[in-house]
Amino acid sequence: MSLQVNLRQRVADALRTAGIDERFAAVAPAAAARFGDFQTNAAMVAAKALKKNPREVAASILTHLNVEDFCERPTVAGAGFINFKVLDTALSDAVNAVRNDRRLGVESVQKAKTILIDFSSPNVAKPMHVGHIRSTILGDSLSRIARHLGHRVITDNHIGDWGTQFGKVIYGWKHLLNRVALEQTPIDELVRLYREVNAMEENDPVLKETVRHELVKLQQGDAENLEIWKQAVSLSWKEFERLYGLLEITFDERLGESFYNDALGPLVDRLLAQGIARESEGAVCIFFPETPALEEKPCLIRKSDGGFLYATTDLATLEYREQRWHPDAVWYVTGAPQQLHFEQVFASARKLGITTDLLHIAFGSILGEDRKMMKTRSGENVELGGLLGEAIEQAMTVVTEKNPDLSAAEQHEVARVIGLGAVKYADLMQHRLTDYLFSWEKMLSFQGNTAPYLQNAYVRIRSIFRKAEAELSEGISYASSPISIAAPAERALALQILKFGEVLHAVLEDQRPNLLCLYLYELADSFHSFYEACPILKAEDRVRSSRLALAEVTAEVLKTGLSLLGIGVPERM
Ligand code: ARG
Repeated sequence: MSLQVNLRQRVADALRTAGIDERFAAVAPAAAARFGDFQTNAAMVAAKALKKNPREVAASILTHLNVEDFCERPTVAGAGFINFKVLDTALSDAVNAVRNDRRLGVESVQKAKTILIDFSSPNVAKPMHVGHIRSTILGDSLSRIARHLGHRVITDNHIGDWGTQFGKVIYGWKHLLNRVALEQTPIDELVRLYREVNAMEENDPVLKETVRHELVKLQQGDAENLEIWKQAVSLSWKEFERLYGLLEITFDERLGESFYNDALGPLVDRLLAQGIARESEGAVCIFFPETPALEEKPCLIRKSDGGFLYATTDLATLEYREQRWHPDAVWYVTGAPQQLHFEQVFASARKLGITTDLLHIAFGSILGEDRKMMKTRSGENVELGGLLGEAIEQAMTVVTEKNPDLSAAEQHEVARVIGLGAVKYADLMQHRLTDYLFSWEKMLSFQGNTAPYLQNAYVRIRSIFRKAEAELSEGISYASSPISIAAPAERALALQILKFGEVLHAVLEDQRPNLLCLYLYELADSFHSFYEACPILKAEDRVRSSRLALAEVTAEVLKTGLSLLGIGVPERM
């Protein structure tokens, strides 16, 4: 049990004996070191409810509070806060426990859930854009964290492999295809076909009709068109897989929209028969008179020309997932503009009797330096492959400058880890709902809240160990000696290490990896203060061992925390 949880229990016990509702027993880290290590506002909250003087309530709680086995005598401060300072011995015991715990003090959830996470989900023959980039990074990190906490997680890439874009792609394939380009850069070539046909048909109603006919033929199962479609999908997958490989992202399921095709007709018929949907002006809709926000916004599931929609596919997909996985929750990691779509799908699912927890994990956009939706220099949507390539290239410049002595292979590997880490971290450190400005300079900086800063903190610790091994000829004996906390900078670092046990649970509560980023940033900061204030290798034996061990736990937490963001650490940089 963590110190914070332990303290909350003691406060709850005290409240109960004092005849106060124990639900007021919240304990938080102290706002500043001068207030101690932890504090509770229980007295203030209780006093408000009981209409009493908070300092008096605090005093009465104090008389019942029993914490002397691990804290100094608690004090009352300000308007009625109760402050706690943990004894050095107790703090030492707690970090030693984390050090000896494979999970670094992170407990698994008590009730594991089956969570299906739908993320990335790019579209075939359209480039992955920044929305897909955010979904990919955020969804991957959330699935890593959920899994780490003991949930059963199914990652599902619901790619857009069936849609109106294929009329244009097929027409383009038949008339404009460049086979060499298709071999070399399949996604770019497919997108080129899509764009060119799109432009050509703009002022040409006859061509428009021909293109539409190609789509109809595909939908009716025409062999030639199906074959082209299949090739386009498989070539796109190849490129997606290359990017996922580079990012070290894996999916348990990769069923695109086309997989649900055959289920759409029967689903709409069933919804009609059950009276859940009804016809309206030739189309079929689900209406939500009982939901004020959706009263005027019915969900269209079949157009008057017989075509099905995005929402129809999502309903069929959900029914399939229910049967296949029996999830407790389904999370959709998709941009904020799709909010209405998911509200409609979720409300429709309720009508179908689906009670699973359905969640749209929305996020804002990435903005270019001009504060508009990010584009490449030539004004195109930024595409993931290009972005990652450029990240690695830019990191390479930094690495060769800082580390001219590394071998070329090592430089390349370090640049990969730093470049990809920088892109991922720049995204994850933001509150997911805010739009943020994309800046190469900022994200690759070794200062501030960036991935290179955290990776560098890790590398610095590793280099202390290399130095220790070289300098201490008799070998370093810290492995079995305990950590003993005394100096203020050691206290601060130890307390920060202990927070790791809480932060991952907080992240999952409202799906915000930025809390983990902030935590790791503060951890690296505490380490740097410790490193400046407390000599390690020059200290006498026992202190040196303790400090080396403290540094080692810090490195472990940094590495584990970063890995839960999908970010690696180099050994040197
Ligand atoms: N392919 C969609 C898009 O690019 C995202 C799909 C999200 N998942 C879902 N089940 N609707 O916007």
